[in-house]
Amino acid sequence: MSRGAVHLWAAQRVTALFLGVAVAVHLVTIIIAVRGGLSAAEILGRTQGATAWFLFYCAFALAAGLHAAIGLRTIAAEWLGWRGRGFDLAWLGIGLLTGLFGVRAAWGLYVA
Ligand code: HEM
Repeated sequence: MSRGAVHLWAAQRVTALFLGVAVAVHLVTIIIAVRGGLSAAEILGRTQGATAWFLFYCAFALAAGLHAAIGLRTIAAEWLGWRGRGFDLAWLGIGLLTGLFGVRAAWGLYVA
């Protein structure tokens, strides 16, 4: 394995580890939070201004976006022969863009 491939493999393992913890935190939070009501006003009342949760969901969204892009890059390289710098940059863009969609959603709930 090349050095770059080792770094991507490590990044995918680390993001996978974080995603496993984050999914558990997310599910427990849902179960506890819904006791306070599920109307839009009640949800926004809990989320608005919760900066620590905003940062948590930013990390969650970026980890998911990058994790998925790294994994799909490997599969596309093996199955379709999509390799090279251009594809790598495209996957990086797809990963960041996917993550930023999540950050935008979290911004709407926790900050704006
Ligand atoms: C949400 C929680 C998730 C967890 C805990 C998780 C965990 C993992 C783990 C443990 C691996 C194996 C890593 C390794 O062998 O080093 C993996 C691989 C992979 N994950 Fe995820 N994953 C998650 C979400 C996703 C999502 C949303 C996608 C979207 C497509 C995705 C796509 C992939 C792919 C394509 C691989 C295989 C890469 C390869 O064969 O080289 N994962 N994931």
